[in-house]
Amino acid sequence: MTNLPDYSFQPATLKFLEDSPKKLFINNEWVAPQSGETFATRNPANAAVLAEVALANAADVDAAVAAAQAAFPAWAGMIAGERGALLFKLADLIDQHADVLAELETLDNGKPIRVARRGDLPYVTKHLRYQAGWADKIEGSTVPVTFPNQFVYTRREPLGVVGAIIPWNFPLLMAIWKLGPALAAGNTLILKPAEQTPLTALYLAELAREAGFPPGVLNVLTGPGLPTGAAMAEHAHIAKLAFTGSTSVGARIMEAAAKSNLKRVSLELGGKSPNVIFADSDIPAAIRGAQWAVFSTAGQECVAGTRLFVERGVYDQVLEGLTANVGKMVVDHGFAEKVHVGPLISAEQLERVAGYIDEGKKAGAEILAGGERLGDGLKDGYFLKPTVFSYSDDSLRLVQEEIFGPVAAVTAFDDEDELIARANATQYGLAAGVWTRDIGKAHRYAHAVQAGTVWINGYGMIDPAAPFGGYKMSGFGREMGKEAIDLYTQVKTVWVNTQ
Ligand code: NAI
Ligand code: MG
Repeated sequence: MTNLPDYSFQPATLKFLEDSPKKLFINNEWVAPQSGETFATRNPANAAVLAEVALANAADVDAAVAAAQAAFPAWAGMIAGERGALLFKLADLIDQHADVLAELETLDNGKPIRVARRGDLPYVTKHLRYQAGWADKIEGSTVPVTFPNQFVYTRREPLGVVGAIIPWNFPLLMAIWKLGPALAAGNTLILKPAEQTPLTALYLAELAREAGFPPGVLNVLTGPGLPTGAAMAEHAHIAKLAFTGSTSVGARIMEAAAKSNLKRVSLELGGKSPNVIFADSDIPAAIRGAQWAVFSTAGQECVAGTRLFVERGVYDQVLEGLTANVGKMVVDHGFAEKVHVGPLISAEQLERVAGYIDEGKKAGAEILAGGERLGDGLKDGYFLKPTVFSYSDDSLRLVQEEIFGPVAAVTAFDDEDELIARANATQYGLAAGVWTRDIGKAHRYAHAVQAGTVWINGYGMIDPAAPFGGYKMSGFGREMGKEAIDLYTQVKTVWVNTQ
C-alpha cells in the first residue's frame, strides 16, 4: 500500500486494503460484478487510490434484488426478537472491530481519526442497538369500529426489499440509520454506499455474515449514482428507497419511483440551517457553538449551521470572537497529531466550494477569515481553510445554496420578525439553532422557524430516540425514534366477523 499516512494502522486495516475488495456482497457471497468494471476510492488527504472496488450495473442490481426477494419471506416471518438478536450481535461485532472501521472511515472520508473513533463509531452501535430493540416492539392496534360483531385489528408489516442510497459524510452511520430500522422491521436490504466512501460498508457486510444473518438479508452494492443508484431507484421490485444526499438527486429518485412501481421514498436532503445568537445569550458559549455548528466535518454536514444571524448589538463582538477562534483551527490530514478540520471529500467538492467563495467575494460579501486552499505538505489533498463571510444581501448564492464545505455566512438582524422572515427564506428546512437566555424568545423562534430539528442553546445533537428529518426541500420522512419504524412498515387492517 503506497501513500498511506505515517500512522500505526491495525493489521486488519492494511490487510483489508491490500485485498482490495473488488467484489459485491450478494446472498452472503462475494461475487464479481457482471459489469466487469471497478472504480477507485481515494484518500481525500492526498488523492492517492486506497482501493479498487466493484462497480455494480443494472444486472448486478437485479441479482441483489432477486437474493433479497428470496430472503424476504423467512426474514419477515422470523420471530421478531430473533431478528433483533442478530442486530445486537452485529453491534457487538462492530464494537470489536471499531478501531479498524474508524481507520477505514478516516482513510476513505478524511475526517479526523479522533472523531471517527469517538464520534462515528460509538454512534453507529448506539443507533444500531436502539433500532435492534424495536424489532420485537412493533405493534398493531385494535380498532373500535361502528359495525357490530366485527373485531378489527391492525398489523405493521414490512414492505419487502428496501434500497438504501447513502452519502459519504458519515458512511457507516448513514448505513446503520437505514439498515437498523429496515432489518428490525423485517425488510431485506440492498445498501449502496457513496462511491467516494465504499470501504466501511464492505467491511460491514463481512461482519453481518459473521453475525449470522441469513443469505440475501443484507446485500451491498458499490458503484456511483449512475448506473448503480439509478438502477435501484428504477427497479420494479424494490418496495422502498431510503435516500440521504443532495436535493437534486432526491428529486430524481422520486421521479424514478413514480415511473417504476410507486416505491415508497424517504428523503433526507440538504440544508442551509439558520443559527441565531441573541444579545442576551452566553456569548462565548454561543460563539463556540456556532463555530462547531458549521465547521465540524469540514462543513460537510446536512445540518451545518451555515447561516449565522447575530443580533446587531453584539454583532461586532461575535464576529471578532468567531474569526479569532476560526484562525486557531488546525486544518490537516485526519491522522495528524492535532487536527480540527480535515479535507473535503473530493476534487469536485473542493472546486464547488471554492467556486462559491470566489463568487461570494465578487458579489460583495466580505471575507473575514480563510478562503484559501492549503499548500506545503497538504497541496495534493482537498483542503480548504475555514472561511467566514459577512453579508447583508440574502439573495446571494452562498446564502441560499447548500455549500457543503467549511464556509460560514454571518449577518446582523434587528428584531424577531425580521429574523424569522429571513431565517425561513431558503428552500431548505432541515435544522436550526438559537442562543438566548430568554425562554419565551427561544420557544417563539423554535415554533416559527421552518425546520425539522431546532436546538436551543446547543447545536448538532442527534440521538437514536429523537426523530430527525426535513421540512420543505430538505426532504420528508423521519429517521430515528419510533418514526423510523414507520418508514419501513405498512399498516394492514384485518376485519374479523365474530358472529
Ligand atoms: P449526491 O446526492 O450526488 O450523492 C449521494 C448518493 O446518491 C450517493 O450514494 C450517490 O452515488 C447517489 N446518487 C447520485 N446520483 C444518483 C442518481 N441519479 N440516482 C440514484 N442515486 C444517485 O451528492 P454528491 O454529489 O456526493 O454531493 C453533492 C452535494 O449534495 C453536496 O455538496 C451537498 O450539497 C449535497 N449532499 C448532502 C448530503 C446530506 O447529508 N444531506 C450528503 C451528500 C451530499
Ligand atoms: Mg474515498
